[in-house]
Amino acid sequence: VGHIDDVQELRKTKPTCIPRRFVRDRIERPRFSMINPSSCTNIPVIDLSKLLKGNKDEFQAELLHLSASCEDWGFFQVINHGVDLSLLERIEKVATDFFMLPLEEKQKYPMAPGTVQGYGQAFVFSEDQKLDWCNMFALGVEPHFIRNPELWPTKPANFSETLEGYSREIRELCKNLLKYIAVGLSLAENVFENMFGEAVQAVRMNYYPACPRPDLVLGLSPHSDGSALTVLQQGKGSPVGLQIFKDNHWVPVQPIPNALVINIGDTIEVLTNGRYKSVEHRAVAHKEKDRLSIVTFYAPSYEIEIGPMTEMVDKNNPCKYRRYNHGEYSKHYVTNKLQGKKALEFAK
Ligand code: SIN
Ligand code: FE2
Repeated sequence: VGHIDDVQELRKTKPTCIPRRFVRDRIERPRFSMINPSSCTNIPVIDLSKLLKGNKDEFQAELLHLSASCEDWGFFQVINHGVDLSLLERIEKVATDFFMLPLEEKQKYPMAPGTVQGYGQAFVFSEDQKLDWCNMFALGVEPHFIRNPELWPTKPANFSETLEGYSREIRELCKNLLKYIAVGLSLAENVFENMFGEAVQAVRMNYYPACPRPDLVLGLSPHSDGSALTVLQQGKGSPVGLQIFKDNHWVPVQPIPNALVINIGDTIEVLTNGRYKSVEHRAVAHKEKDRLSIVTFYAPSYEIEIGPMTEMVDKNNPCKYRRYNHGEYSKHYVTNKLQGKKALEFAK
């Protein structure tokens, strides 16, 4: 990515028109008319404290709510999630501080083509591909062998230590959520944890500078996630930017302070034979405000075989996906451009 394709640098030039590579074909533009007007109705909100320590009735009610949210939306926000709020603040601070560094400093950690670690723009493979109005910084975190220590920044000084602490807590959250997702499906509570082996955890920080023509660009192309579960933190004071595709409309996700946004990834869609959907989503840019998001992907170990679980297949629900190796799927996912739910055709 050259100087000119770095969106923060571009923004600094106060452009009056948008460079061609960012201007979407008409059909792809975020037609704000397609936003469901009744979608001031927000995505579901799950109160995790009711699952972690509620009485029996509260637990059962929230468990049903969780199952329905996964089935009907594939997306929900979680409140009282138990993640230390000061860690949410600190990760946001180091992420912002990193993005505010001079370009030369950030380019010490370049994202190599066909990988999703380092600073730059992921999922770009050809000169004629449109670019997202976004700068990314992504790192593999767990297990240790996926880390590339040369990409862990020395500035800001407390970046690595903060990311470690944050990732540990987000990992616990993912494990808890997967446990309740299993119970809600009448499966053994540790079914996913046992199946996933040494789970893979990666983080991606997205910085979307304000854009003079948000109607022409996309912050992030439509896609579903290749993970099992994704945890998304939106920066405090960031404008609405995330939209999910539901019933033929784009539904904006209104941030709730201190809540985390959770979505079902492709792996859970396959394991549940399509009962829980990995929903397509995108990000749009904002005319005046910058936006930050911090995304954690939680997925099985690469050597694990994935396919619909036998419990999820019967004569009314015939098997929809083939079995495949998760590492091969990951590779397929990161070596193709983001394009709706196209990656999942791999499993058909
Ligand atoms: C993502 O889908 O990875 C990020 C979307 C967002 O920034 O809200
Ligand atoms: Fe995503």
